[in-house]
Amino acid sequence: MTAPEISKAEWTRKDLTGIEPLSAGEITTLLDTAAAFKTVGTRDIKKVPALRGQTLVNLFVEPSTRTRVSFELAAMRLSADVINISASTSSLTKGETLKDTAKVLEANHADIIVLRHSSAGAAQFLAERLAASVINAGDGAHEHPTQALLDTFTIREKKGRIAGLHIAIIGDILFSRVARSDIHALTKLGARVTLVGPPTLVPREFEHLGVTVTHDLDAVLPEVDVVNLLRIQHERQRKEYFPSLGEYTALFGLTKQRAEKLKPDALIMHPGPINRGVEIDSDLADSGRSVILDQVTNGLAVRMAVLFLCAGVRGGAE
Ligand code: CP
Repeated sequence: MTAPEISKAEWTRKDLTGIEPLSAGEITTLLDTAAAFKTVGTRDIKKVPALRGQTLVNLFVEPSTRTRVSFELAAMRLSADVINISASTSSLTKGETLKDTAKVLEANHADIIVLRHSSAGAAQFLAERLAASVINAGDGAHEHPTQALLDTFTIREKKGRIAGLHIAIIGDILFSRVARSDIHALTKLGARVTLVGPPTLVPREFEHLGVTVTHDLDAVLPEVDVVNLLRIQHERQRKEYFPSLGEYTALFGLTKQRAEKLKPDALIMHPGPINRGVEIDSDLADSGRSVILDQVTNGLAVRMAVLFLCAGVRGGAE
């Protein structure tokens, strides 16, 4: 079984550390490559030999379900060998530095390191020091590039375009790496982005990224084509940013009553994990208007595309 016909000519990066450095053309190449790989998932044999002989290490220093599983499955579908390392069972707990851990992996002939880390810039730090490809699976509150790619892919798949759409990103923007990566991807592709949430979590400073900031969710809902709800990230918040979860939900939660204000064809998205009943009503999350599980499914194709293109730059993809 062969890989779909894919042009690697427009991709020149061995690493993917963020969306901010990418051009609109590079993002489109990633999305088009993901679309080609999505067709592989419809075949009887869902595996291609593109990364045969390559070794991928999932180095997750923060918890993850979706991203880690998706990268592991993407690597397996591309015929790479996969090793999973979590911080709690690694020598990081003995004080070994991230760089030393990564060098140990490279000495074991790791070709691709997928890194999730609590420090912004951790993936870039390794990318500059390793010959291996380094893929950012989320670095602190900085970027989560593959989440933005799968979000953008899902919107493009459902709506047929990105340019000209109006997309609301709602909630904990201040601490959200997903929000930053989504903003870069969507605005580069020509969408209009509005950020919504309490002033403490959505300060006006975000407007320098080319987005609109508002604190009035009810006024925004009838105007948008997509709502992307973000999780309240208790683990990153160092003080109280709103009086209570109940008050947050009252003002910024997507309740059933609020959802009636949306256009009939508006998409409801969430990167997960969800705080059910806080940022989104539980039934709405499971409703036909929600594309939350489509996002998960598309993550596989997007991550296959990222691994394939970055490995290709090192000469590691067939
Ligand atoms: N969306 C996301 O990154 O989920 P995980 O933390 O489960 O990987």
